[in-house]
Amino acid sequence: MPRAYISGVGMYVPPKVVKNDDLKAWYDTSDEWIYTRSGIKERRWVEEPASTAELGLYASQEALQQAGLSPQDIDLIIFATLSPDLYFPGSGVLLQHKLGLETTPALDIRQQCSGFVYGLSIADQFIRSGMYRRILLVGAEIQSTWLDYNPEGRTVGVLFGDGAGAVVVEATEDPNRGILSSHLYSQGAYAMELCIAEPSSATRSHELPGSYGMRPYMNGKEVFRHAVQRMGEAVQVALSAQGWKPEEVDLFILHQANIRIVQAVADFFQLPMEKFFNNIHKYGNTTAASIPICLYEAQAEGRLKAGDKVILAAFGSGFTWGSVALIW
Ligand code: ACO
Repeated sequence: MPRAYISGVGMYVPPKVVKNDDLKAWYDTSDEWIYTRSGIKERRWVEEPASTAELGLYASQEALQQAGLSPQDIDLIIFATLSPDLYFPGSGVLLQHKLGLETTPALDIRQQCSGFVYGLSIADQFIRSGMYRRILLVGAEIQSTWLDYNPEGRTVGVLFGDGAGAVVVEATEDPNRGILSSHLYSQGAYAMELCIAEPSSATRSHELPGSYGMRPYMNGKEVFRHAVQRMGEAVQVALSAQGWKPEEVDLFILHQANIRIVQAVADFFQLPMEKFFNNIHKYGNTTAASIPICLYEAQAEGRLKAGDKVILAAFGSGFTWGSVALIW
């Protein structure tokens, strides 16, 4: 049975840097509050108009280049986003067209901050089954356009950034590299704790303008409590599946929602923060893009080397969460 491995990584963030103090234009907030509560110093926001699929395109081009492939070599596109270009169809088909492809299948998934982990697991299953050998997995988000810029939007508004990450996942017969296991979970009982409720099938679209449902809602404390617990569980299940001790893992990459969540997981496993790759200070929460952006930067900084034991884990809206264990 072939194994799936990541053969190329790419990222793209818009050039416009928005520092914490810049947010004072909309919110009663401060650099000190944002940094101490979340670890964020700045984020990137697009210049409008912009397209999520286009951000994904730039990241994909770099991932394909690193893998030494052209778009025509790809058997399947998986596009993870909570901020698609259109209500329907998904951004995957738009990316497919931008890549110059004719009929390559494109699959959109809506797992929010867990989108990349879910997507990697899906790619792994398609490759193990033998159905596909080369899959392009993209996480891309434009979140600055759905933020609530009214004063009451500050709790959510200061956390999110725009960006994209992409990986090429390929089949290999090499037993010493690739994805070893993945574990996925969701709990719809908490769907309304972190959501944008509209546009929705429950609302007549002509009634939408000014509707409060179009603004993001987050029960921050509840989400935080679950995130710490579930992220820890997701790491534990990956460790148990591989029989790894926490200290044996070379690098942990956790979804970048809040540095305090990563710190809590590190404390639970009695690991130093150096074992965790973080860049939330530069980009904020880029949802489905955060883990592939981390992969790209970790590799560029020499913190990911062939043969390294790696655990990826994420938690987000849904609630959804999960983890992947792999050998780089
Ligand atoms: N600036 C200044 N003050 C603020 C801001 C702000 N931007 N936002 C809220 N406050 C105020 C609140 O009004 C509150 O004031 P009060 O005490 O007078 O009522 C005070 O700061 C404390 O607010 P808390 O909500 O208690 O702050 P907390 O320490 O819980 O941190 C945060 C908030 C950062 C949102 C945290 O709860 C968190 O990180 N939650 C989890 C986020 C997450 O993991 N999301 C999942 C992924 S996202 C996805 O899947 C799409």
